[in-house]
Order: sequence, then C-alpha cells, then structure tokens
Amino acid sequence: MARDARRCRSAWHLAWIGDRIRLWYNAENVATFPGGLVLAMQSYHIAVIPGDGIGQEVTPVGVKVLQAAGALLDACTFDLEWFDWGCDYYLKHGRMMPADGLDILRQFDAIYFGACGFPTVPDHISLRGLRLPICQGFDQYVCVRPARLLPGVPSPLAGIAPGALDLIVVRENTEGLYAGVGGRTHRGHAHEVAMQTQVFTRHGVERIIRYAFDLARTRPRRHLTSATKSNACQYSFVLWDDIFAEVAAEYPDVTTDAQLIDALAARCVTHPESLDVIVASNLFGDILSDLTGALAGSLGLAASTNINPTSAYPSMFEPVHGSAPDISGRGIANPMAAIWSGALMLEFLGQPDVADAMVAAIEATTAAGRVLTPDLGGSATTEEVGEAVLSHLTRQGQLLTT
Ligand code: NAI
Ligand code: MG
Repeated sequence: MARDARRCRSAWHLAWIGDRIRLWYNAENVATFPGGLVLAMQSYHIAVIPGDGIGQEVTPVGVKVLQAAGALLDACTFDLEWFDWGCDYYLKHGRMMPADGLDILRQFDAIYFGACGFPTVPDHISLRGLRLPICQGFDQYVCVRPARLLPGVPSPLAGIAPGALDLIVVRENTEGLYAGVGGRTHRGHAHEVAMQTQVFTRHGVERIIRYAFDLARTRPRRHLTSATKSNACQYSFVLWDDIFAEVAAEYPDVTTDAQLIDALAARCVTHPESLDVIVASNLFGDILSDLTGALAGSLGLAASTNINPTSAYPSMFEPVHGSAPDISGRGIANPMAAIWSGALMLEFLGQPDVADAMVAAIEATTAAGRVLTPDLGGSATTEEVGEAVLSHLTRQGQLLTT
C-alpha cells in the first residue's frame, strides 16, 4: 500500500524500537535509554470482530501471530477488545451490531475482522448490517487485495512460471453498485420491480484512481490497468474512463491500459504476468479479487484492506474470503489470509518490518510444504498452520537478534 498512508491514530506514537535500542529494553512496553530516558513501546488499540463461520476459527490464529510478531521484533504490543457481533448476535438482538457500533469502533486504531454471513441470516442482512456499514460509515474507500503465487503453492493455472502472478487489485470500496441506492416495489405482483443503481461520483472515482497510481508507482513494473464496462454502461464507466485519463496525465512514469472487465477476467487467466496493479469499481474489484485469489492458489491466502488513508476513521483488515459455511466448524480453514491481513494492518499502522516478517513466515510455511490445510493440498488443521507460521516467525526473530 502507499507508504504515506501508514499512520497511527493513537496520540502517543513514540518510538521505533530497533535492534540497538533493544539492548536497554527492560520491561514490557518500555524501553530505557542511557541517562534514564524512558520511552513507551507503541501499543495499538485493536477491535477484533471474528464474525461468523470460519471467521471465528482463523481470527484467533491471526491474532496470535500478530502478537508474536510484534513481541519478537520488540516493535509493538496490542490492546485488544473482542466483539461478538455477527449472525448469532443478530439472532439474539435483531441486529448484526449494536446501534452505536460505529461509535464504539471509532476510538480504535484499527479493526481486525474475520467474516460475516451465515445461512441462519439472509446474506444481504448480514453484510449490510455489519461489514458494509463499517466500510461506508468510516469512508474506508480503498480496498487493496494482493495476489501473489507463493513458493510451494500450486496454482490452478497449468505451467505457470514462478513470479508470473504478482498483482494487486485496488477496489473502490464505498460506492458503485454497493452504494445501497435503489428499491424494490410492487412485491408479489407480476410487475414487481427492483432497481440497484450504480453510483459513481467524480470525488469517489478520482480518489481511488489516484491511490492506485500512487501504489503502482511504488512497484517495480509501474503499470496500472483500469477495469470497466464502458461499452455497455455509457454513463458511469465513461465517467470513470475520463477521470482515469485525466489522472494518468499526472503520472507519466506509470504505464497504463484500460480493459473491459470480461476480457480482463480472461486475461487474468491467460496472461497474469501482464498485470501489475488493477483499479476497479466495487463490484468488479470484488469479483476479480476472488478470481486472482483462486489463481494464486486459494481464497485461503487472499488478504484485504478497507482503508481510510486520511486516518480520520479506523481502517479495517480482513481476509477476502467469507465465512465458508461448507467447511466451518471442522478446524480446517486456511488461516494464512487472516494472518496476511494482519500484516497489512501493521504495514498501515507504520510497522512495515513486522508486516514483512509475517509475510515471510507465511512464505516459509508454504515453501516448506509440510503443514498446509486441505485447500492447499495438505491435511493440517487451522491451528497447526498457525503454529507452523509462528515457528518460522520465531526463527526469523532469532536470526534478527543474533
Ligand atoms: P466464501 O469465501 O466463504 O467461500 C467460498 C469457497 O472458498 C468455499 O468453498 C470455502 O470453503 C472456500 N474458502 C474460503 N475461505 C477459505 C479458507 N480460509 N480456507 C479454505 N477454504 C476457504 O464465499 P461464499 O461461500 O460465497 O460465502 C459464504 C458466506 O460468507 C456468505 O454468507 C457471504 O455473504 C459471506 N461473505 C462475507 C464476506 C465478508 O465478510 N467480507 C466476503 C464474502 C462472503
Ligand atoms: Mg468478495
């Protein structure tokens, strides 16, 4: 994600505790320097919402790895508050979260989310009662979804070369077809009608495109692809195309192309190596990122952000996947997407070294290939994979301190 977006909302951001400073580290959360100067280690106030289904299984594992990574690198600690919001909460209280849920979350540095939705509650009620109000209420307009084929992970694409799939989908996260504008009327009649309006504002489109250009600029290939359907949607996507061209003129160092979403979906399969950063509307980004996640081996590896880059509100970090009712309760969900999402949270909060260590530990686990969940061809449980990632993380921590 764009480096300038890394910022902590907490008022007492004091110090980066590096290797040398660690020599004087003598108590939890405190580093003491010669001369008696005492600095508190960064602590992050995190709201944890495991949600439903496998969200409840992968989130505790992700939290465990987060805590270990912060401690191993003497970088940060976490002040966690857990919330039981989700479908069970809905069945008891008639809502997915309390009426003042956003006020409660507002005070946190970030939100670490599992998944929401279960067959016990209609999906449009669960999603629109929890995840979407948080994304839209906190103006988390940037959804960043990296997809990279990790060592040891088989892709469903035959013969794909290592490194050939390394892309990021940047999804607009507050408007488009998910804006919630529309209606349904004349229920039960033959002339019943439902309309769901795609909302694009100049403000909303420009800021996500600008974010994607800034991100593309930080990557070696500096290429940005715009996904639209301007041939069929002559108003909304043509506005998007116009703004894309305007903003592109300010980024001569980034190469661009624009492609209709159907052909782009095919290109993800046939020529993934030609893609670097993709910027897409809410719906298209949602669909493409499941596709790219699957191409990178499994939805169980696909991580995601919901960022407000201004930090006016807390941002939220979650796997791309949902609650997977088909495997929930069996302890076999892959926790790597949740762990990777935790790394994206720490990167955003200003701890890129901890984030890199977490991703490196995921990579070491897939490369070793011994402890993997069934989605990656293994037979390990969610917790066993978490332990494997932790042990690779510990080894890295030891390497750093010796
Ligand atoms: P899903 O992402 O939950 O599952 C799709 C397929 O991927 C399933 O076969 C599942 O077993 C597999 N899968 C997903 N995550 C996995 C993991 N970590 N390890 C191994 N396999 C994994 O999508 P689905 O089935 O369409 O939705 C289920 C529920 O989740 C619905 O209620 C839906 O509304 C909700 N949902 C919520 C999201 C969120 O909270 N951000 C995102 C997507 C769906
Ligand atoms: Mg999705």
